[in-house]
Amino acid sequence: MKIIMLGAPGAGKGTQAKMIAEKYSIPHVSTGDIFRANIKGGTELGMEAKKYMDQGLLVPDELTVKILLDRVAQDDCKNGYVLDGFPRTIPQAEVLDKALSELGEKVDFAINVDVPDENIVKRMGGRRACVKCGATYHIEHVPPKKEGICDVCGEKLILRDDDKPETVLNRLKVYHDQTQPLIDFYTKKGVLKTVDGTVSTSDVFASIVAILG
Ligand code: AP5
Ligand code: MG
Repeated sequence: MKIIMLGAPGAGKGTQAKMIAEKYSIPHVSTGDIFRANIKGGTELGMEAKKYMDQGLLVPDELTVKILLDRVAQDDCKNGYVLDGFPRTIPQAEVLDKALSELGEKVDFAINVDVPDENIVKRMGGRRACVKCGATYHIEHVPPKKEGICDVCGEKLILRDDDKPETVLNRLKVYHDQTQPLIDFYTKKGVLKTVDGTVSTSDVFASIVAILG
């Protein structure tokens, strides 16, 4: 099963993708997480990506596409995957489409997690993230068991550099300009499913499971 998560920054793509990955035993592939791991590791790719991410801009397609195609070509992706944060532009979606059709495959579901902009800014300041395993928390809505520590791997949680309110507003603008057109793209392919992302994380997950079966 090949699943794409669509939705504004902070809509809950990462939160739901983790739960999907666990239930359906497929890898969770997040381009944002890959970039953040590279930034933490001080790699050349990380340094390049950081220039864009800190401003809330998209990392150029040339860099992003290569990383994603390399990742999904790995063995653990043979039986499918859940993509979180990719594609984010029409050219990225077209590259993915082409790569899949060359293998005789296609995207099975594009899940659009719908949350209005007003709710997003409020969520971001409370988010805490684990750079080691990609788990995401919220200080009020989804707190870790021990303050500041990841439940899954015990790593210290961080506040992401791009979660400052002014950067969040930029990311929302970039989302509306460059990523929202993908909703049309996947609607035309007949695979788009929209879920209400404003309810609790378990209720959002229940609507996704009802779609995926
Ligand atoms: P990325 O890491 O993908 O960030 P994003 O799309 O901005 O999305 P977020 O991770 O911020 O939000 P999310 O939807 O995963 O929400 P979460 O589950 O954390 O990308 C970061 C940057 O990398 C981009 O800006 C870009 O520069 C670059 N990049 C990445 N991919 C790229 C690509 N393909 N092309 C080009 N550049 C790329 O939830 C948010 C918060 O809300 C959390 O605190 C969570 O606990 C809480 N929450 C979740 N669900 C609920 C709920 N139902 N109720 C209450 N709170 C909830
Ligand atoms: Mg995320």
